[in-house]
Amino acid sequence: MEIKTDFLILGSGIAGLTYALKVCKHGSVAIVTKKEKVESSTNYAQGGIASVLGLDDSFDLHIEDTLTVGEGLSHPEVVESVVTDGPARISELVAWGVNFSKSRSAQEDVYDLGREGGHSRRRIIHAQDLTGREVESILVEQVESQQNIMIYEDFFAINLITESQVKGKRRDGDICYGAYVLDRNTREIHTFISKVTLLATGGAGKVYFFTSNPDISTGDGVAMAYRAGAPIANMEFIQFHPTCLYHPEAKNFLISEALRGEGGVLRLTDGTPFMESYHPLKSLAPRDVVARAIDGELKKSGAEHVLLDMTDKSTAFLKKRFPNIYDKCFSLGIDMATTPIPVVPAAHYSCGGVVTDLYGETAVQRLYACGEVACTGLHGANRLASNSLLEALVFAHRSALQSIEALKERGFAFPAIKPWDPGKAVDSDESIVVAHNWDEIRRLMWHYVGIVRSEKRLARAQRRIRLLQKEITQYYWDSIVTGDLIELRNIALVSELIVRCALKRKESRGLHYTLDHREKDDNHFKKDTIIKKR
Ligand code: FAD
Ligand code: SIN
Repeated sequence: MEIKTDFLILGSGIAGLTYALKVCKHGSVAIVTKKEKVESSTNYAQGGIASVLGLDDSFDLHIEDTLTVGEGLSHPEVVESVVTDGPARISELVAWGVNFSKSRSAQEDVYDLGREGGHSRRRIIHAQDLTGREVESILVEQVESQQNIMIYEDFFAINLITESQVKGKRRDGDICYGAYVLDRNTREIHTFISKVTLLATGGAGKVYFFTSNPDISTGDGVAMAYRAGAPIANMEFIQFHPTCLYHPEAKNFLISEALRGEGGVLRLTDGTPFMESYHPLKSLAPRDVVARAIDGELKKSGAEHVLLDMTDKSTAFLKKRFPNIYDKCFSLGIDMATTPIPVVPAAHYSCGGVVTDLYGETAVQRLYACGEVACTGLHGANRLASNSLLEALVFAHRSALQSIEALKERGFAFPAIKPWDPGKAVDSDESIVVAHNWDEIRRLMWHYVGIVRSEKRLARAQRRIRLLQKEITQYYWDSIVTGDLIELRNIALVSELIVRCALKRKESRGLHYTLDHREKDDNHFKKDTIIKKR
C-alpha cells in the first residue's frame, strides 16, 4: 500500500504527539508507531519535567545547573533557549488537560515542585510518580480528537526513503521522502510518502542488558538516520540511572531520583551510607557520580545491589507522593516505609543522537528529529535530571513551527517512489540466530561498554560487534523482515556507533569514564564527537 501524507511522524511519545498536535492544522498527519500508541519511554517517566516555576528559582540558575552537569559540552545558546521556553510549554500541557500535583500546603494554585540530582532548586513539576502516564494519556486523547491525524499502531518503520535511494546515486544534503514501514500484523511493507518527516523514535536503552527502558527503545531512529547519511553525535554519553529496582520479578522498573530528592539515603547492604565519600551532595549528587560510586562499591564488595533507604518517611507520605513505586515494591514484598529498597544502576538515557539545529532540522532535508533520538546540544556530556521531557516539548514545538513554515514556503511535491523490493528473501527458519545475537550484544555492551570503560574492553567490543554485524546483515537480506530482525540490526548498529564514539574520546568527561584516561582533557576533547556514514 502507498500512503501519502504531508507530515509523517515516526513515534508516539511526547515528542511525536506534541509535534502532531501542532502541525495538524496545516496538513494531513500520519503517526507510525511500532506497538500500541502509548507504549513509549514517555509513558514510564516518573520524576517529572524540569522548569523554572518556583518563586526562589530563576532561568539563570536552571541554565547554570544544566551547563554544570553537561561538563562543558552543552551548547549555551540551546540551554538558554530550552530553559526559557519551559514555562510556556508547561502551560500548554496544562491547557490540554495535564493534571500536575499541587503543593501539600493546600494552596490550590501552587504546584508541588520536586527536587532531583544536580538541581540547585526544587523545579520538577510532576503528577505524583506517574508523570509520564498522565502526559502521554492526555496527548493521546488530544491527538485522537483531531480529524487530520491518523495513527498507525503496530507499524514498524524500517528505513527512511531518500532521494539517493530513489535515484540510485548517493548525494550530500540528501532529501527525505518518507519511510518504508512494516505492518506487524499483515507483514506487508507499506510505502509512506511525506513532504516532511519527523523522527521521534526515542532512545536506545535496550542496547544494554540492564535498562530502565521499555522494549521499544532499540535506537531505531538513530540507526535509520545514520543509514540515510545524517551525522550522529555523542553516542558515548549513555546515562546510567543509579537506582533501578533489583528483584527477580521486576523487569526495567525505575526507582525515581525524586525519592532521593525527598531525603532517600543510599546505603551498602550492611546499612552503611557511602555517598559521603564521593560528593558533597551525597545521595543527591549528579547521576554519573552516583552510578559510578554504586558500580565501584558493588565491584569492591561483590554484593548484587545497594539499598535506597526511605524508612524515615511515613507510610502516608510515601503512598501519596510515590503511589506507583510504593505499590510496585509492596507487590514484591518490599514495604518501603520499613524496608530499604534493593537497587542497581541500569542504562537509562542516550544523550547523543541525530544532530539537529535549534529547530530540530537534521542535515537531511525535510527530516526533523526531536526527543531522545536527537542530539540538540542541550545535554552535552551528561543530562540534568528531568530535562529530557522538557527538551522534547520545546523541540517538538520549534520543529513544528519550522516544518509548517517550510511547507508553506516551498510547497514540496510527492515524488514517485518504488514499493519495497523483498528481493529473494525467504521466511527465516532460524529465529534462534536473532535471539542469540540480541542477547550477546546486550551482554557485551553491559560488560565492555558500561559505566566504567577501558580502551581494551572497547576494542574487544568493537571486534565482536563487527563480526556480529556481518552475520546479521547477511541474515537480514536473506530473510523476510520481522520486527525482531529489524531491531537486532538496529541495536547492532547503535552499539557499534556507541563504541566508535567512545574510542574517539580519549579522556573522561561526564558519562564517559575510561580507566586509560581518567581526567578531562579540555585542550583536545572539549567538543562533540560527530560521526557520519562513510
Ligand atoms: P519515547 O517516549 O520513547 O517514544 C518513542 C516512540 O517511538 C514510541 O512510540 C515507540 O514505539 C516509537 N518507535 C520507536 N522505534 C520505532 C520504529 N522503528 N517504528 C515506529 N515507531 C517506533 N525524563 C524526564 O525528563 N523526566 C522523567 O521523570 C523521566 N523519567 C523516566 C523514567 C523512565 C522509566 C524512563 C525509561 C525514562 C525517563 N525519562 C524521564 C526519559 C524520558 O522519558 C524520555 O527521554 C522521553 O520520554 C523520550 O520521549 P520521546 O518522545 O523522544 O520517545
Ligand atoms: C527519575 O524519575 O529518576 C527519572 C528522571 C529522569 O530520567 O530525568
